[in-house]
Amino acid sequence: MVQPLSMHIGDPTPLLQWIARQEVFDLSAVKVPSIWGLTALAAQCRNEQPRLRIERSDPSSAASRFAHAVGFESACAGTFHRVADQSRTCAIERIKMLSSLDPQPVAERIARLILPSEEEEETRRTFVYVLVELIRNVSQHSRDPLGGIVAAQRMDAGSGGYRKDHVQVAVADAGIGILEALRGFHPTLANAKEACEKALWPHYSGTFEEGLTGTAENAGLGLFFIAEMTKLTGGRLLLATRGATLSLVSDDESTERNHIQFLDQAGPGYPGTIVAFEAPFDSVADYYAIIETIQQRAQTRAPGRTSHRWLRYDEPDPTAFGLSVRIAAESTPKAVELAAKALVPKLAAKQALKLDFTGIEIFTQSFAHALLYEPLRVAWALKTPIWIVNAKPSVRSTLALLERYALSG
Ligand SMILES: Nc1ncnc2c1ncn2[C@@H]1O[C@H](COP(=O)(O)OP(=O)(O)O)[C@@H](O)[C@H]1O
Ligand SMILES: [Mg+2]
Repeated sequence: MVQPLSMHIGDPTPLLQWIARQEVFDLSAVKVPSIWGLTALAAQCRNEQPRLRIERSDPSSAASRFAHAVGFESACAGTFHRVADQSRTCAIERIKMLSSLDPQPVAERIARLILPSEEEEETRRTFVYVLVELIRNVSQHSRDPLGGIVAAQRMDAGSGGYRKDHVQVAVADAGIGILEALRGFHPTLANAKEACEKALWPHYSGTFEEGLTGTAENAGLGLFFIAEMTKLTGGRLLLATRGATLSLVSDDESTERNHIQFLDQAGPGYPGTIVAFEAPFDSVADYYAIIETIQQRAQTRAPGRTSHRWLRYDEPDPTAFGLSVRIAAESTPKAVELAAKALVPKLAAKQALKLDFTGIEIFTQSFAHALLYEPLRVAWALKTPIWIVNAKPSVRSTLALLERYALSG
């Protein structure tokens, strides 16, 4: 086997095969480094449990210097690397595996580093959304005791054959992989390829099959949203896990020409899970419109009746008990705790609620699920309303989708 010289995302198989089968990688030999490639390597090279040893036969080579500049060594060592240069367009870092991990600040910090300007706000929100979902997946599903590696890079048109300026983000772990993670709920899954394909379906993970209406932990919409974002932005998604490598490439001139392709069919995939997403950054003119389109697609593919109205947006009853959602903002464990300790007990006592969404900008479907899936079912069972106040339109549509599937079946 000859070590690959390129880490181009358009042809990931040589690097993935090398990572799965070899024990040493010479970083200096790489001619075309990339952030997803370094992320894939870093998750396998962490000092506590290195599966792969990194060599630098020439520390002054372009790839060695690139890796150093973005913080590759400190990601492997688990030390924090503060990117010094203000004009940095790239960063890689390690996230710890904590059940209390709040993905939002990490995602915001990374996205702000590569998309700092105010005009890039819509694009930044999209990447924050993707990073939050991917970081959450590592902490919820990977069972990697070392946590994950998160990275982002901004690239100019012209470099690496790209026609437009774009951003690439990647999140990797060395955990159990998607097949193993999904098997608990879906013991009949035949192989990793089928698991990957279905992980992109809305509500597949343990929910909404065979008369079930879901679990409190997962909406099963994270990867579905990311795949749909890929299609809507003319982007690219790479999903490699134990036993399968999937690529979704969207052509922005014709969004109908999306196709999911399995690469290296008999190959090893990736020893853990890596997801890389990239999109041209002029493609996200309206973040909320993208989220709404995806929500509509999820609705048409999810079972549900829409006549329930236990989430209400009119003037709250003065006796409703008021709570701010901000205290739980984007931390799933805090949302679950708020739901279990405050919302459900009140509703169980038939106390109507008034939830204040002031300050909530990015409201992912999985966060909405953690916060309100159980309370909503209790509200419905006991005919006790939950008023929603100060919610942005995007927050409302996220809640509408949740209400639709939580109260279906
Ligand atoms: N990093 C990962 N490691 C292992 N399994 C994963 C990982 N990311 C996703 N999965 C699997 O893919 C499924 C779908 O993920 P997602 O669409 O985010 O939905 P959810 O997280 O709500 O279940 C997860 O339930 C899990 O089984
Ligand atoms: Mg998820």
